[in-house]
Amino acid sequence: MIENTQQFTQRKQEHIRLALDDSTQANGFSGLDSIQLIHEAIPDLDFSKVDISSQLFNQSIATPFLVSSMTAGHDAAVKINETLAIACQQRGWLMGVGSQRRQLFENEAAKEWQAIRKLAPQAKLLGNIGLTQLILTPSAQIQRLADSLAAEAMIVHTNPLQEVLQAEGTPHFKGSYQAIERLCRELPIPIIIKETGCGFSKQTLLRLNNLGVSAVDISGFGGTHWGRIEGLRNEPQSQRFKAAQVFKNWGISTVQSLLDAVSLTPDYAIWASGGVRSGLDAAKLLALGAQVIGFAKPMMESALQGIEAVLKQMELYEFELKTALFCTGCKDIATLQENIVWQPSK
Ligand SMILES: Cc1cc2nc3c(=O)[nH]c(=O)nc-3n(C[C@H](O)[C@H](O)[C@H](O)COP(=O)(O)O)c2cc1C
Repeated sequence: MIENTQQFTQRKQEHIRLALDDSTQANGFSGLDSIQLIHEAIPDLDFSKVDISSQLFNQSIATPFLVSSMTAGHDAAVKINETLAIACQQRGWLMGVGSQRRQLFENEAAKEWQAIRKLAPQAKLLGNIGLTQLILTPSAQIQRLADSLAAEAMIVHTNPLQEVLQAEGTPHFKGSYQAIERLCRELPIPIIIKETGCGFSKQTLLRLNNLGVSAVDISGFGGTHWGRIEGLRNEPQSQRFKAAQVFKNWGISTVQSLLDAVSLTPDYAIWASGGVRSGLDAAKLLALGAQVIGFAKPMMESALQGIEAVLKQMELYEFELKTALFCTGCKDIATLQENIVWQPSK
């Protein structure tokens, strides 16, 4: 049964409020501090020539950056998504929209995208649906979600810890792999599988191979933590609140999950997110082998301040990435990835 609009809106707003609270951030656990890029004292290139363009499924894109999927389907979401989409179009970033679950039950919800497309017709948008919804939904309906925002690709997110700790959650993952395989077979656009801050194990990454998936965003532990967020939505005496405290450090770090993914050389591209908080963090993940790098919480924070704040944040991350390329002596991202320019921190 789908909850009513008021309950849905309240939940989404609680999520935003709690995601911005420091206590729901797994700061220091991403593994990024354990990686160091190697300084090049004589780069033999000009900073102005450093190129941060990247590849998305064989097309060239201006940056490897993605505003990770966040919110959708309620009044406040429209403004947030409009702000992010306009900024993404301007800076050439990708943008994942938040879960389109509501749209499965209410066609009206698609209006949000019509409004956004008028303002940002060229933005590269990625659709989003939860794996537990995908299992129950025919591919034609998922296609409808993607069409409504003219999506480049569809992201399917997985979030078992969140579903089990959320009072309204749907912890029903039986049939996941068949559902993913079916979607990849039946949809003509790329399918991306993504965690939401707990990462993927080697075993799961291996099982995602040969299903037709185009990319996996490992979205690891080290940033926004949905166990912590859902815990705080419950009464302190409740089972869910107490369990969330026990599971507050549950997950596989962003760096560990990325290293595992790269070691498998899978048939899908590897994207990384989860606790990425600077262009230097992004450079480390690119050096380790990720193709696209996602930022969620910091972009929500700036979107709530307005378009100027988002653009400033984006320009800072781009500058930091360029600085990391320059100071490792790499003229572009391909060079960063072809050479070993990182080492474990001492
Ligand atoms: C307010 C908020 C809402 C989110 N909603 C979604 C969602 O609807 N779908 C999804 O795939 N991920 C969602 N996420 C997870 C992010 O895309 C990302 O995987 C996670 O927050 C880790 O990145 P971060 O540490 O940069 O925040 C959400 C994150 C935030 C902060």
